[in-house]
Amino acid sequence: MIIKKTINSIQKLLEIEKVNLKKKVAFIPTMGALHDGHLSLIKSAKAKKQFIIVSIYVNPSQFGPNEDFIKYPRSLKSDLKKLKKSNVDLVFTPNSKDLSRYKYKNYNFKTLGLERKLCGSTRPYHFMGVAEIVLKFFTLLKPDIAYFGEKDYQQFIFIKKIVDQTNLKTKIMMGKTIREKNGLALSSRNKYLKPEEVIIAKNIFKILKETRILIKKNKKQLSILKEQKRKLIACGFSNVEYFQILTNDLKHAKSPYIKSRIFVAARIGSVRLIDNILI
Ligand code: PAJ
Repeated sequence: MIIKKTINSIQKLLEIEKVNLKKKVAFIPTMGALHDGHLSLIKSAKAKKQFIIVSIYVNPSQFGPNEDFIKYPRSLKSDLKKLKKSNVDLVFTPNSKDLSRYKYKNYNFKTLGLERKLCGSTRPYHFMGVAEIVLKFFTLLKPDIAYFGEKDYQQFIFIKKIVDQTNLKTKIMMGKTIREKNGLALSSRNKYLKPEEVIIAKNIFKILKETRILIKKNKKQLSILKEQKRKLIACGFSNVEYFQILTNDLKHAKSPYIKSRIFVAARIGSVRLIDNILI
């Protein structure tokens, strides 16, 4: 496994590798604190015998001023061990100074307002921060394929929509959400949860599944969502930011909810958790 820390050195290496390489280049961007959700994206690429690049970079521009950028878990040493065990070919661990010297100029895409829905309603700068770093990585590394998790479905669809409008050739793939046995979606932020909060957190998936059953039986979306939101609060969540049904394109969904999803963001104290399931 090769580790590169600078844009210059990774680009030089890729120039040589791509000439010799008969494989497709797969890219999995991450912010580290790796768990089985990240590793499952790597497995998908491995199964297709692709050359795998993983980046580890906690991107400041996607965090709001009062968010957890400073305390975001960082565990480079153990991350690198996991990546080596997963037979990753190349790891990119850039720093902000080097990245800020490289300017990506083509922001000529229409986001269709996707960045203001769901998580965007309380995190107004988040998705443009994600777009900035992901497009920078794509233009630098020119991967054939990039993998994103279903857990952050809005991020996946946002990236897919904006990449469609650029001349980048990267194909955007989605890997399914990996969960704990108790249903809690794996997330680097789960590290913030105290044991008693994990017991509260696992109710998100339970209530999502229950909502799916109710929605399929009874078509009164608004009253079901209101009641399910109340249940989350009763379980111990301090606040439910959104509990919403949208189509897979993040448009208004209506009965019979074909190709639609239930999306939720809820807080336990200062810890913010998100999840979604397909109806
Ligand atoms: P991060 O939260 O580290 O996630 C990296 C990738 O892993 C994302 O595509 C995310 O959707 C996926 N992922 C996280 N938890 C998952 C789970 N339980 N099951 C399946 N996939 C999961 O998302 C980011 O980083 C950043 O926004 C990034 C794209 C790297 C840009 O900075």
